[in-house]
Amino acid sequence: MNWQNRPRCDQAPAWALLRAHYEQHFSANAGAFDLRAAFAQDPRRAPDFSLQAPYVFADLSKNLIDRNARQLLGQLARECGVEAHRDALLAGEPVNVTEQRPALHPLLRAPQNDPNVPDGLRDEHLKILQELDALLSFAEQVRADANITDVVHIGIGGSDLGPRLAVQALTEHVSASAPRLHFVANMDAHDLLSALRGLQPERTLFIVASKSFGTAETLANARAALDWFGAGDGVDVAGHFVALTARPDVAAQLGITRCFSMAEGVGGRYSLWSAIGLPVAIAIGAAGFRALLAGARTMDRHFATAPIATNLPLQLALLDVWQRDFLGFASRCLVPYRHGLRLLPAWWQQLEMESNGKRVDSHGRAVPAHTAPVIWGAEGSNSQHTFFQMLHQGTQTVPVEFIAVREAGHPLASQHRQLLAHALAQARALMVGADHADPARQFPGNRPSTFLLLERLDPQTLGALLALYEHRTFVAGSLWGIDSFDQWGVELGKTIARAIEAQWGQPGAGDFDDSTSALLARLGG
Ligand code: F6P
Repeated sequence: MNWQNRPRCDQAPAWALLRAHYEQHFSANAGAFDLRAAFAQDPRRAPDFSLQAPYVFADLSKNLIDRNARQLLGQLARECGVEAHRDALLAGEPVNVTEQRPALHPLLRAPQNDPNVPDGLRDEHLKILQELDALLSFAEQVRADANITDVVHIGIGGSDLGPRLAVQALTEHVSASAPRLHFVANMDAHDLLSALRGLQPERTLFIVASKSFGTAETLANARAALDWFGAGDGVDVAGHFVALTARPDVAAQLGITRCFSMAEGVGGRYSLWSAIGLPVAIAIGAAGFRALLAGARTMDRHFATAPIATNLPLQLALLDVWQRDFLGFASRCLVPYRHGLRLLPAWWQQLEMESNGKRVDSHGRAVPAHTAPVIWGAEGSNSQHTFFQMLHQGTQTVPVEFIAVREAGHPLASQHRQLLAHALAQARALMVGADHADPARQFPGNRPSTFLLLERLDPQTLGALLALYEHRTFVAGSLWGIDSFDQWGVELGKTIARAIEAQWGQPGAGDFDDSTSALLARLGG
């Protein structure tokens, strides 16, 4: 099937079959599906609804799904040409249709002499490898430079979340001699100012990460950092500022001449693997960064080659679509039981909601189904003491995704056991519920969850985990027929912000609605 003419999910015969199956077995009228009964009736449910992908084990059995729905979802993927679309992504075809660009993040992970790099991408791959070598040797240089004690990374969205998450997740892999890393994203200058507190210009390296080099927050923080550097008698801007960007020409206009570049075909939220990963390489070293890429590459190969039934990104995406469009769940909650992964919900939020939060397909037609749900969450076990009450006894059912890591990564073994016990307990409690004479103490149960398990948290496993989420997002977008690689929805607010700023301090000026004008008068009149 040609990936450009593949049918959207609602046009595939399996969609109607899924609808009928839902009505017959899952709707309230049908008495609804009961997970406890499903386990009681099917002793093979747990193993048969579990999958092992590279570095990630996934137990999907505690979800509101049966074997027939799973089989129909597989049929849906086939009828929608998901595999042809995946192959087009991996072949560097212009799958970012609205911008007529490829999505090159998988290519960033391919090592030298990778036989799976398509011939048409060999030149691009060579450029990527050269940039990577230069980037990693710079990272090693920074790590060896005793004069640099602090690195401040300025960037936002995909130019912040990926590297920030990876540095947090891999704390145990950061060598003691590495400089301290600080991340600054917010337009609110408190963010920058608190990062700069106590730093010395001549001992600080600034990284300005922006694919476009046109993002207001990043430019404002970069200008303020340059001012701070100059005011502190810092003279060698070239030696203390480095830009990570697809627009070195624009960075140069700001006076930042040392650049590591990324291709236009690398999307912001998919850019950790590009030059944007520099702070990660500074933290864990060149070998660590290559291991992160290798982990992601292993997941890429799994995604490229595993049959639909055992392809984890594909199966997770099919479950996501089933939950969103048939079971009607409007949000998904992610709870990593690992402190190092506490930023994963925010990273996934950008990935999924910026990629798939769209209402028209890539041909501009309205999608007659719901697309990206609200993604939210926070680390366990903290969140057990915040929003879990609602998950257990609230009026909405929210599918929860648990992530646990078998190896502690620290010496407090019994505390780690306790943490894992809490994760397992929450997933079980959501499913089994509890009867009680007092309605306030009753748990309805039958609440779905997915359980992802890593053996350990290291560069490889993290790379594989993040690539898993990337591909899952792509597959769901593919089924919905949308372009997962553009983000036009973020533009309007930026344009209006510029117009408001232009009218600042001029009461009554600007052609705004009454509410905006009144607030503007209060704030800046
Ligand atoms: O929020 C819009 C967006 O373009 C994201 O997609 C991107 O990750 C972020 O802004 C930062 O963009 P840039 O790297 O160009 O500064």
